Amino acid sequence: MAALHMNISCLIFLQVLLLLLSLFAQTNAQGLKVGFYDNTCPKAEGIVKKSVLDAIKKDRTIGAPLLRMFFHDCFVRGCEGSVLLELKNKKDEKNAPPNLSLRGFEIIDNVKAAVEKECPGVVSCSDVLALLARDAVVALNGPSWGVETGRRDGRVTNINEARANLPSPFDNITSLITQFRSKGLDKKDLVVLSGGHTVGNGHCPLITNRLYNFTGKGDSDPNLDTEYAANLRGRCKPTDTTTALEMDPGSFKTFDKSYFKLVSQRRGFFQSDAALLDNQETKSYVLKQTKSYGSTFFKDFGVSMVKMGRIGVLTGRAGEVRKKCRMVN
Ligand code: HEM
Repeated sequence: MAALHMNISCLIFLQVLLLLLSLFAQTNAQGLKVGFYDNTCPKAEGIVKKSVLDAIKKDRTIGAPLLRMFFHDCFVRGCEGSVLLELKNKKDEKNAPPNLSLRGFEIIDNVKAAVEKECPGVVSCSDVLALLARDAVVALNGPSWGVETGRRDGRVTNINEARANLPSPFDNITSLITQFRSKGLDKKDLVVLSGGHTVGNGHCPLITNRLYNFTGKGDSDPNLDTEYAANLRGRCKPTDTTTALEMDPGSFKTFDKSYFKLVSQRRGFFQSDAALLDNQETKSYVLKQTKSYGSTFFKDFGVSMVKMGRIGVLTGRAGEVRKKCRMVN
């Protein structure tokens, strides 16, 4: 009887231990945690938030590129601020083709300068990017989430790594799934994070093949709604290299779930958006978000952003906290 009692006590003890360990693992994933600067720079998050609100008040279209910037940082070498570094020979990530349309670098400089003034050498550029992305989404009426912080900044940037690691708007679903999987993100993260295209613009040359010459016979993409294709042809001439169009017409400055409605109507802007209908799991997610009730997109977006924010982070004593985001210390 006593032995049985011992066994049960041991079991309960082990279960409590496991629960505590798993809680610890969740709150401490890779050394990141929500509120990392609560003691070392308690005003940091407030400073970032205010700067974003001020910037968006002046120009609401700046929110989308700030969100995109975090994605482009995380997919190349992990979320460690390498997208911000500049090399004299220009062989940095910034100069890779997908990054040439990034905007908002001055805002990052300003936010970083303000945070440095408050607490010198404490808050990393990579964390500034993570906070900016969340605050930009909130400012555009989207969801909020607890941003894990505690990242440190890398010291390396390489143009070829950006070329190799950023998904292309011409990618098909198999390629997208593989690329996201290689970053530890699953199909749900892919479809949820693609919902970021509910805000912002895309440039004509990235869709002219869909409009004019999809298979080399002067045809358009059969996966693009014909009426929408005609509308886009009116605004993107075959040789137009400069015009940027709203990816979510009507609400491209508002973070909402209309992206999924567009994709379901074969009005996704890029082939990579349309491709979400080519896999059972991503398609069923898209369709679920189009219902008036039961959309989980806002909640899911925060969860997937936190997951993306953990890619390849540097923590503890790795890397450094850059003084200026464009250069290593
Ligand atoms: C799934 C793979 C993805 C591909 C292939 C892709 C591709 C692109 C491309 C080509 C543009 C237009 C760039 C331009 O012409 O200026 C764009 C814009 C944008 N992307 Fe993505 N993207 C992907 C995923 C994401 C993710 C995960 C996010 C964030 C969570 C995101 C956020 C944005 C935003 C906000 C814009 C608008 C930027 C602006 O207005 O300047 N994208 N994306």
